Order: sequence, then C-alpha cells, then structure tokens
Amino acid sequence: MSGLFITLEGPEGAGKSTNREYLAERLREQGIDVLLTREPGGTPLAERVRELLLAPSDEPMAADTELLLVFAARAQHLAQVIRPALARGCVVLCDRFTDATYAYQGGGRGLSETRIAALEDFVQGGLCPDLTLVFDLPVEVGLARAAARGRLDRFEQEDRRFFEAVRQTYLRRASQQPQRYRILDAAQSLSQVQQALDALLPELLELQRG
Ligand SMILES: Nc1ncnc2c1ncn2[C@@H]1O[C@H](COP(=O)(O)OP(=O)(O)OP(=O)(O)O)[C@@H](O)[C@H]1O
Ligand SMILES: [Mg+2]
Repeated sequence: MSGLFITLEGPEGAGKSTNREYLAERLREQGIDVLLTREPGGTPLAERVRELLLAPSDEPMAADTELLLVFAARAQHLAQVIRPALARGCVVLCDRFTDATYAYQGGGRGLSETRIAALEDFVQGGLCPDLTLVFDLPVEVGLARAAARGRLDRFEQEDRRFFEAVRQTYLRRASQQPQRYRILDAAQSLSQVQQALDALLPELLELQRG
C-alpha cells in the first residue's frame, strides 16, 4: 500500500494553511485517511529546527547554514512522519516542501539549484510529491496578509525583490513540470479558491485510488 503525497506551496499569506484544512475536510468526507503536516517542522525535533530558521537573530545566518538546516529538518520529518504515513496508505498534505527550498534558498537567497538538487537527492532518495498545489498571488497581497497577523519572522522581513524571486521560481518550476503542479489563483476570494480545490477533488481521488 502506498499513499499520496501532496504539497501546498506559495508565499506567506497565500492561504496554504487555511486551504490545507479545507482540503483535509473534503478528503476525510470521502473516508480517506489524511495526515496534515508542515515544513520546516512536522516532528518535535524538526519544529526546533524551524524555530532556529524563523527567529530573527543578531547573528546573520549564512545561506548555506539555512539550506542545511532546512534539509536536516526534512530528513527527520521524512523518517519520522512522511514515509511511515505514506507506507500506511495516508494522503499526506504537507504545507511547504522542497519546492519552497528552491524558491526561498534558491530564488530568494541565490543558492545554486545544482547544490539544492544534490541535497534533495541525498535526503529524499527519489521521493518526490505526487502533486504540488501552488497558491500564487502578487507579492504585495501576500505580504499585506502576513503583516496583518503581526510580528514578522526572519523570512517575512525580506524585501520585495526576494519575494518576487520566490514567486517566479514557483511559477517556473510549475511550467517546467506541468503534470506535477496545479497553480491556483490565491488572490481570489477564499470561497473562489475553495471552488477551485473542489474542482481538483475528483483528480485527487483518482490519484489516491492509483
Ligand atoms: N483567498 C483569500 N482571500 C482573503 N484572505 C485570505 C485568503 N486566503 C487566506 N486568507 C487569509 O490570509 C491570512 C493568511 O492565510 P494562511 O495563514 O492560510 O496563509 P499561509 O499561506 O499559510 O501563510 P504562511 O506561509 O505565512 O503560513 C489568513 O488570515 C487567511 O484567513
Ligand atoms: Mg501557513
């Protein structure tokens, strides 16, 4: 038995967490075993690494340190949560995964894709999401939603150029591999986004049945 690995991607404030809950409800209504998780994090140890990554700090974090911490957390998350859940036949809905590493550490920080790909191969050994939903929206809309939540984390403090690169990286990756990605217009109202998710549901159920 093997489950289905779905990741939700997009910038801060795009609605990943909100819509992950919505999608989980729809799938559970169909009697499907769903596991909700997120990155960086998803296990107690990986959540501690998340805190290191997100907390603003006086000591600047080297971009390589950031990249290695992201993959260290991911190795733990895969071993403890994702691989066992997929082996049990769950649908895993994961808020951010390796596409976010390409978008933030690659596009945003300017680290080379070749290096990211080498770590991806080392940590994941070929495991890759079955489907990736990209919640796309203009940078300023996402930043305004994130700002409305209060104190900004280390990434949210980045400038417009950073988030523009994040967005373009997601869109480029999606266009290079259209069979794995679905782009959702996240600037629409929440109910419109949820209608778009409803429209994807038959396809997800089909994938789950394998
Ligand atoms: N389509 C939408 N229209 C208007 N508001 C939305 C929409 N989607 C989400 N929101 C609101 O925007 C805020 C951010 O949404 P959410 O936390 O789901 O985003 P996120 O992608 O998980 O962000 P982060 O990456 O920072 O965790 C929430 O207050 C949510 O209610
Ligand atoms: Mg979120």
